[in-house]
Amino acid sequence: MTLPSTRRGQFITFEGGEGTGKSTQARLLTDFVRGQGKNVVTTREPGGSPGAETIRKLLVEGEPGRWDGITETLLLCAARHDHVERLIRPALERGDWVICDRFIDSTIAYQGHGAGVDIDLINRLSAAAAGDVVPDLTIILDLPVEAGLARATQRAGGEDRFERKGIDFHRRIRDGFLAIAEAAPERCEIVSAAEPIDRIAGRVSAILAERLGIPAA
Ligand code: TMP
Repeated sequence: MTLPSTRRGQFITFEGGEGTGKSTQARLLTDFVRGQGKNVVTTREPGGSPGAETIRKLLVEGEPGRWDGITETLLLCAARHDHVERLIRPALERGDWVICDRFIDSTIAYQGHGAGVDIDLINRLSAAAAGDVVPDLTIILDLPVEAGLARATQRAGGEDRFERKGIDFHRRIRDGFLAIAEAAPERCEIVSAAEPIDRIAGRVSAILAERLGIPAA
């Protein structure tokens, strides 16, 4: 975002593989930031706006081989553009904080590292989709793949198209997220998702204190 940071809210993303607890931590961080008197919009990708939620169903349901990596990338970027322009950008410009469960790094990890789509292509398509809306802070929740998939399969619902893509695919995704964090330390923090939920939340709020100057829990 090019607006000066004093005039706009902060954009925080949670990233990680399956079953790492991103949505739980996004909810807990929302409560924490609201407790600091900020307006917070909590959202997710793929999805977050009515149109993007319609596209989400195409991506997360059905057979694992339903789409190839490039088709997935195009669908994700279409959903992202709608989500950014209708929800995220207006919220940040109003001065609200935005906490988003997955964003561009998921496309780099899943479609790039996981499915082999050229990462330069993903970056160009994502730039077209999101423009100058980039996260101020990204928390990457890290967990061994076997543990994450075991947690994820306990969840109900038919949104398991990516979960069923096989363990090697998910190993590449975990390595991809770690590589993203290493390449962008000014934006990303890796947090172990193997800890109890409240300990992870405490670590996340400490990171906000260090990086964004918000008082720690
Ligand atoms: P969720 O279960 O965290 O809501 O995410 C839905 C699935 O979509 C998850 O399996 C990861 C996948 N996904 C991608 O493959 N690429 C992306 O860019 C995003 C945002 C999600």
